[in-house]
Amino acid sequence: MKAPIRVAVTGAAGQIGYSLLFRIASGEMLGKDQPVILQLLELPMEKAQAALKGVMMELDDCAFPLLAGMVGTDDAEVAFKDADIALLVGARPRGPGMERKDLLLENAKIFTAQGAALNKVASRDVKVLVVGNPANTNAYIAMKSAPDLPAKNFTAMLRLDHNRALSQLAAKAGVAVGDIEKLVVWGNHSPTMYPDYRFATANGESLKDKVNDAAWNADTFIPTVGKRGAAIIEARGLSSAASAANAAIDHIHDWVLGSNGKWVTMGVPSDGSYGIPEGVIYGVPVTTKNGEYTRVEGLEIDDFSRAAMDKTLAELEEERAGVAHLL
Ligand code: NAI
Repeated sequence: MKAPIRVAVTGAAGQIGYSLLFRIASGEMLGKDQPVILQLLELPMEKAQAALKGVMMELDDCAFPLLAGMVGTDDAEVAFKDADIALLVGARPRGPGMERKDLLLENAKIFTAQGAALNKVASRDVKVLVVGNPANTNAYIAMKSAPDLPAKNFTAMLRLDHNRALSQLAAKAGVAVGDIEKLVVWGNHSPTMYPDYRFATANGESLKDKVNDAAWNADTFIPTVGKRGAAIIEARGLSSAASAANAAIDHIHDWVLGSNGKWVTMGVPSDGSYGIPEGVIYGVPVTTKNGEYTRVEGLEIDDFSRAAMDKTLAELEEERAGVAHLL
């Protein structure tokens, strides 16, 4: 039996947590032969801790053979102790009348503290995925607050956007989702993101040529993917949780176990390529192997794409400027 991997999850009693933890414990994220120890963080409030206790009781009741241990806590340093993987899901939601700026600042407090706790107690190789919104900027804040950890190990979740784009494109092109390669969603996890299928293929065939519909790209595809979160809230009365949890599983699964040559989108600290300033956490195409991601380099950026990529970058730069004084 392999040694267990320690997986920390924040916001563990929330909606996404409820869809996520059972799949991690059943082996869907790290493999059916890989034991895990779950280290779960929730707010100290009685209600949150009681809900966490309930979720842990249910995890017990599943009798997962791969669940080698479980800790529930309101202390980030307990949750992140020796963590190999940290899924930062818990975040402050936007309250009534709350300005975007206030939301950023409230979350900045959470993610500076959690970054510092990771810096202090997590494994030196911890792989961090930030799901809680604003995900890219929260990941940036956590990264800046953890100077002793490799910056490249701080990532933000664009995988839900990537999966949404895959599904829309598959339907339009009449191909199977699993056959699509070389799709990317550039930028921020927000409606400014730029889903880009110019390079996409299915069984070797160019999907841009197959679809051949610039109006669909600009007027349907890009806005549908960008506004999908809002559409789910409108339809369900609740935000996307199962699909977000699924995307988090995909992100970590591929990062740890490899994407088999396929492009996947990860929000990662920029190395300066594609005109994205160094350090900005920006969705880019990567391939993953042996626990490392590698950017897909040298893609041609046409004028339409440049404008779309700059727009989502401008929003990220604005967010970064809004929290700069805290870092
Ligand atoms: P939720 O409100 O159901 O659950 C969040 C949980 O986090 C709550 O139980 C809360 O008590 C806890 N929490 C809040 N602050 C915390 C802290 N400082 N430490 C530990 N726990 C804390 O929300 P849900 O639906 O689970 O979503 C979580 C986050 O994920 C939200 O910020 C949401 O906007 C974001 N999200 C991101 C997506 C992405 O693609 N990047 C997709 C969908 C959601």
